[in-house]
This record gives sequence, structure tokens and C-alpha cells, in this order.
Amino acid sequence: MRTYLVTGGAGFIGSNYIHYMFRKYGDEIRIINVDALTYAGNPENLKEVENYDNYTFIKADIRDLDAIKKIFAENDIDRVVHFAAESHVDRSIVNPGVFVETNVLGTANMLNAARAAWEKPDGTYPEGKKFLHVSTDEVYGSLPDDDNAFFYETTPYQPHSPYSASKAGSDMLVRSYMDTYGFPANITNCSNNYGPYQFPEKMIPLMIHNALENKPLPVYGDGMNVRDWLFVEDHAKAIDMVQEKGKLFETYNIGGHNEKRNIEIVKIIIATLREMLPENDPRREHITEDLITYVEDRKGHDRRYAIAPDKIKKELGWEPETMFAEGIKKTIKWYFDNEEWLDHATSGAYQEYYEKMYSGR
Ligand code: NAD
Ligand code: DAU
Repeated sequence: MRTYLVTGGAGFIGSNYIHYMFRKYGDEIRIINVDALTYAGNPENLKEVENYDNYTFIKADIRDLDAIKKIFAENDIDRVVHFAAESHVDRSIVNPGVFVETNVLGTANMLNAARAAWEKPDGTYPEGKKFLHVSTDEVYGSLPDDDNAFFYETTPYQPHSPYSASKAGSDMLVRSYMDTYGFPANITNCSNNYGPYQFPEKMIPLMIHNALENKPLPVYGDGMNVRDWLFVEDHAKAIDMVQEKGKLFETYNIGGHNEKRNIEIVKIIIATLREMLPENDPRREHITEDLITYVEDRKGHDRRYAIAPDKIKKELGWEPETMFAEGIKKTIKWYFDNEEWLDHATSGAYQEYYEKMYSGR
């Protein structure tokens, strides 16, 4: 049975990936989920699988090399899928230090622990050992406001935020281990994800939550920034395809050619909420475009992201399956059906964060 070590599996994409993998492979695989359970890690995301015999959760911090080495020593790991990271750009602007610690040094620990466990005395690696580093399109910087400009795997790195700089640093480390040690890895650089289990600090769940609560919808700057939105399950599928069919040492860009301006997204969310709420639901009345509030822009705000997924499409046959109109409905339905999850995620520390982050805007 193949054993996967997934880091950050209690977060948004990691938990969707774990659900996807169990749906696809059932008991043919074993998954060990290593997560420090920061504010972004939520064990509730995995309650459906937590009793599976082939699922193990280990609370550990990737900044702790000894803890990670111990996990490798005690388990015969075949595949690593490395999601764990500090992931929110706004937080990186306020507190960049932890982004360097987790994203750069934590990734170095993951590479060192995997290398120590896997590398043979002759410097080669056993067949089948693979490390996938999950990264972001933000490492490429910002595109001009031009519908024909895209990020390719060959686009030079030009990160702007502390978050994207730390992810760029981690990508470079993975590249250097591949080049120096022949370390068997891949890197994926994906565009903005949306879907179930996304923490409501990110734009789409934040707007859904605020609209339902009759709170202002805070749009940064002029609202004309462009992001390329991908339904999270399509990302999970792409990651699996890269490990199954991709060429080792290669980088793959993942994105859905679904570029939209932020203001368009907010208006779609308002219209979709109104369409999906039952006729007699009193919230329908207040969910209108009057809730839209333009607020101070994000510092260093990247204008436009757009992935060219040509390579992954041509080499692996991957294509996004969920169109935005369908994905946003599935997402909103998930938040309707999981109000308790949303209440837990938005109570306590999140409220303090929200007050601090948005009160001056
Ligand atoms: P998330 O913030 O929802 O989850 C991150 C997870 O990592 C959490 O469970 C958290 O507890 C865990 N974690 C954080 N620090 C840790 C540490 N020191 N040790 C162990 N675990 C730790 O993030 P996400 O949105 O699911 O993103 C996952 C990965 O995908 C990240 O590497 C991110 O850079 C990348 N990515 C995200 C997107 C997106 O749109 N969200 C797009 C492309 C790439
Ligand atoms: O592109 C991939 C990246 O997408 C990932 O690497 C990051 O981990 C992920 O957080 C995401 O980064 P963004 O900064 O693009 O996502 P966010 O949801 O924070 O913001 C999306 C856009 O919406 C961005 O232009 C800022 C804007 N925004 C965001 C928030 C939270 C608002 O206008 N208002 C808001 O309240």
C-alpha cells in the first residue's frame, strides 16, 4: 500500500485533497496528515475520514526538524504532498516573520527530512519516492491589465508580497535540491482556489459570510484587480495527476482560464445568494449591491494573475472540470449547509483579526 505524507492537510486545499484521494483510491492508499493546527487548520474539515484505518493525523510543526524526521523514521513514506504554509497575503503584510519561518525554513526541513530518509548511499533515490511542492502563481508577480498576458512555467519570478516572496524562496529551495541532489520532486504553481472549507479571511468566503450577516462587503482599491479562479477539487485532481503522470523535476502551472475582476466576483456572489436563498428568507432583502464598500487598497496589490495551463493540458490531459457558475453555487451551498463550521471558524480569534484588519480601512 502506498503511503502519502500530506502536510497542511487540515487547511483548505489540503483537506479537499485528502477527501479527493480517499474518494479516488479508497483503501488502496494510506495518508498521514501532518499539521500544526494553526488558526487556519481545522480538524473538523476531516471528521468524515478521521476514523478510517488508513488515515492518521499527527500534530506537528514543519518548523521542527526533529519532529518531521521522526515521522519519516517511523513510517515508510512513498509520496510527500507539501501544502503546509502560511497562506494569507494580508497577514504576511502585517507579520512577515512567520511566513519566512514556515514557508521557507519549514520547506527546507521537509526537504532535508525526506532526503535523509530516502537518499541511498550512492546518492540515488528508490523508484517511486516523490515529493510534490504545492506553490502559487503569485511567485510570478503581477501581469499588466491585458487579456492576452499569461504566466507560463518559464515566466521569471518577481514576487511582491512577503507571502509570495516566501513561496518563491521555497520553490527555489526545491529546485536547488532537484538540481544538486537529483531529489525526486515536482513543483505546481496554481491560481486562486475557491470551494468548501476555505477559511473566511479569503475573499470569496469572506464576501459570502459578510453578505449573510448583513455586513459591508469590503472591496480593496478600485475592485478591478484580476484573479484566475479554480474550483479546489480541480486543483486536487491536478496534483494527483502530476504525481501519477508528470515528469519528475518538472514544474506545472495549474489554472482554469477563469479570470475575473474582484468586483465581478462580488456581484456574482450577491446575485447567486439572492437566487439560492428561499423566497421567504429575510436575508434576501438586505443582500444587494448596496453592501459593496470600497476600502483602502492592499499594499503592493498585484493587479492581475492569469495562468496559461497549456503544459499540464498538453502533457497530462488535465483540464478544469467545474465552470465558475457551477463552482460558486456548489461553494455557496456548502456554506449554507455548514453554518456551524462557519460559526466556529469566525468566532474568537477570527473576530479579533477582522476588527484589526478592517477597522482602519
Ligand atoms: P490554508 O491556510 O487553508 O492551510 C494551511 C495549513 O497549513 C493549515 O492547516 C495550517 O494549520 C498548516 N500549517 C501552517 N503552518 C504550519 C506549520 N508550521 N507546520 C505544520 N502545518 C502548518 O492554506 P491553503 O489555502 O489550503 O493553501 C495550501 C497550500 O497551497 C499553500 O502552500 C499555499 O501557498 C498553496 N496555494 C494556495 C492557493 C489558494 O488559493 N488558497 C493557491 C495556490 C497555492
Ligand atoms: O493566486 C494564488 C493565491 O491566491 C494563493 O497563493 C494564496 O494563498 C491565496 O490566499 C490567494 O491570494 P489572493 O491574495 O489573491 O487571495 P484573497 O482571497 O486574499 O484576495 C483575492 C482578491 O480579492 C485580491 O485581489 C484582494 C481582494 N480582496 C481580498 C479580501 C480578503 C478584497 O477586495 N477584499 C477582501 O476583503
